[in-house]
This record gives sequence, C-alpha cells and structure tokens, in this order.
Amino acid sequence: MGRSKITVVGAGNVGATLAQRLAERGYADIVLVDIVEGLPQGKALDMLQAGPIVGYDSRVTGTNGYDETAGSAICVITSGVPRKPGMSRDDLVKTNMGIVRGVTEELVRRSPDATLIVVSNPLDAMAQLALEVSKFPRQRVIGMAGVLDTARFRTFIALELNVSVHDVQAYVLGGHGDTMVPLARMCTVAGVPITKLIKPDRIEAIVKRTRDGGAEIVNLLKSGSAYYAPSAAVAEMVDAIMLDRKQILPCAVRLEGEYGIRGLFVGVPVKLGAGGAEEIIELDLTDEERTSLRRSADSVKELVGVMGI
Ligand code: NAI
Ligand code: 2OP
Repeated sequence: MGRSKITVVGAGNVGATLAQRLAERGYADIVLVDIVEGLPQGKALDMLQAGPIVGYDSRVTGTNGYDETAGSAICVITSGVPRKPGMSRDDLVKTNMGIVRGVTEELVRRSPDATLIVVSNPLDAMAQLALEVSKFPRQRVIGMAGVLDTARFRTFIALELNVSVHDVQAYVLGGHGDTMVPLARMCTVAGVPITKLIKPDRIEAIVKRTRDGGAEIVNLLKSGSAYYAPSAAVAEMVDAIMLDRKQILPCAVRLEGEYGIRGLFVGVPVKLGAGGAEEIIELDLTDEERTSLRRSADSVKELVGVMGI
C-alpha cells in the first residue's frame, strides 16, 4: 500500500502554494495538474527538490493529463481565472463554469471515491456545479471559503485588540461574497464575547473589512488575488479529512433543510473527518442572523440560475 494521494488541479497561485503546503505535511503524495504545458511539471520538480532541505519524502508529480490522478483520496479544484480589480467574484461565473465542469468530469472518472474540495470562484456556485457533475453524495463535495473568511475576521479582531489570533474564536457563515455573514455575536476572545471588548462601530468596520477582504487584496496586487491564506485554509480542511480530525470548520456544503435552506451551497459549520462533511452543525441563530443567511443563500441561487443548472 502506497502513501495516500492528493490531486490539486490548477498550478497557479492557490494550487501551487497549496501543493507546497501539503507536500511539507509529508502524509500524502501530490499530483499537480494544469493545462499550461510545463507549468505543473516545473513547479512539481522544484517542490520535489525542496524535499531534501525541508525534510519531506512526498512525491510531487506535475502533469497536463489526469491518468496520474487515479485513486486520489482528495481532489482540490483551483483551476479557473482569478479576479481582476473591479471584477466581482460573480463575474467569473461563465468562464470558470466550463473549466470546473470539465475538470470535475476528468477527476471523478479516475477517483470515484475521492472527496472534492472546490476553491474556484464564484465559490458556492462552482461547488454546486461540481456536486451536480460528479453525482457524489453531498458529504464528498465541499467548498472552501468560510475558513478563509473566518481567518480574515480573526486576524482583524486580533489586530484590533492586540491579542494572539489563537485566542480569537469566530465564524463567518453564508456565501463567499458580499453577503457573507460574520457572526460577531458569537465571536469570543479567550471566551469573552467581542461585544464586551470592542465598540459597535469598530465591530461594524471589522465586519465590513472582512466582507471586502478578498477585494482589498485584489486591489493591492492589481493582477491576481489572494493565495497565501486561501491555500492555508484548504490545507487545514485537507488535514481534517486526511487525519480524520472531526474538526468543526465553516465550509460550503449543500443544505437539505438545515437553517431552513434547501438545495443550495451555503457556508455553515461542518464536522470534517474521513467521511468528508460528516455532519452539519446547526447554530442557534437570531432572526436577524437567519435572515442574513437566507439573503446570502438567495444570492447563491441567483448565480446558480445564471449557470442554468
Ligand atoms: P491562477 O490564475 O494563479 O491559477 C489558476 C490556474 O488554473 C492557472 O495556472 C491556469 O492555467 C489553470 N487552469 C485554467 N483552466 C484550467 C483547466 N481547464 N484545467 C487545469 N488547469 C486550468 O489563479 P489563483 O489565484 O490560483 O486562483 C484560482 C481560483 O481560485 C480562482 O477562480 C480564484 O478566484 C479562486 N479563489 C477562491 C478562493 C476562495 O476562498 N474560495 C480564494 C482564492 C482564490
Ligand atoms: C478571496 O476571497 C478572491 O475569493 C478570493 O481572496
């Protein structure tokens, strides 16, 4: 029996950074796929050659095809075009739809038992598409957004209070877009609610900065979007599944009545383990929070409508 295999599709900023992070974990071999000739091969070889220095034995293989991906435990889809300044995540829908559809078909044919983690934007719609195309059970198609959005929220709170990010507990729910729902009420620092530590207008500013977190980086970078935190977020999800951690993380999953929402991908707290999204955790939300989550689900519905699936 060999080491487990993880496939990362898209050897761009997010995909390559993720492949590096996963190779350094050492518990799986990594297959990196891209359509650009030489790009995944070159980056994979470079990562392989870092092994003797960093001290990992993971095999990293780059390819323009899919044969090498066969039998993967997890496949991460990062292929697609990223946002440019002034472009919303939703503008990406038409282009990335074709890419995600084709990639999903290739992956599931060769790894029928894999868990798919979708990263390509617009996230919730692309995850929904991957679920439809793969025909996998909903436990095995998961979108990454909440871990990233929550990390941004935690970062800004830690900066505000000059405390360690380790002490900040938070959840950002909803779609990965302007309607995301940072749950300020449930956010705590070493067990103390932030509502007791930070003034309401500052909390509001932090919530807004979190919602605009992706755009803030796009505007600074000018070409391309964030990838250090996004790849770290995916790696945390991969760890939880590969190591069967039963870790509760905010992820985009298809809801089937939970939170009063049916048939749509929305970010909610999920228990991640060897079975993928093993359980959806239903938090006790206020009416206002529930309404915000619904509004967020409505915007996902609109996009799914644009895709015509
Ligand atoms: P990038 O442009 O650096 O990399 C994308 C890669 O996908 C390129 O190397 C490209 O050649 C490849 N690609 C395009 N079509 C392909 C196909 N059919 N098969 C295989 N590979 C293909 O972009 P980056 O920064 O890595 O972002 C990737 C995606 O992830 C974007 O859609 C971006 O918006 C999204 N994203 C989502 C986040 C989230 O929170 N869900 C966070 C960050 C990025
Ligand atoms: C982000 O939030 C662009 O979705 C990407 O950084």
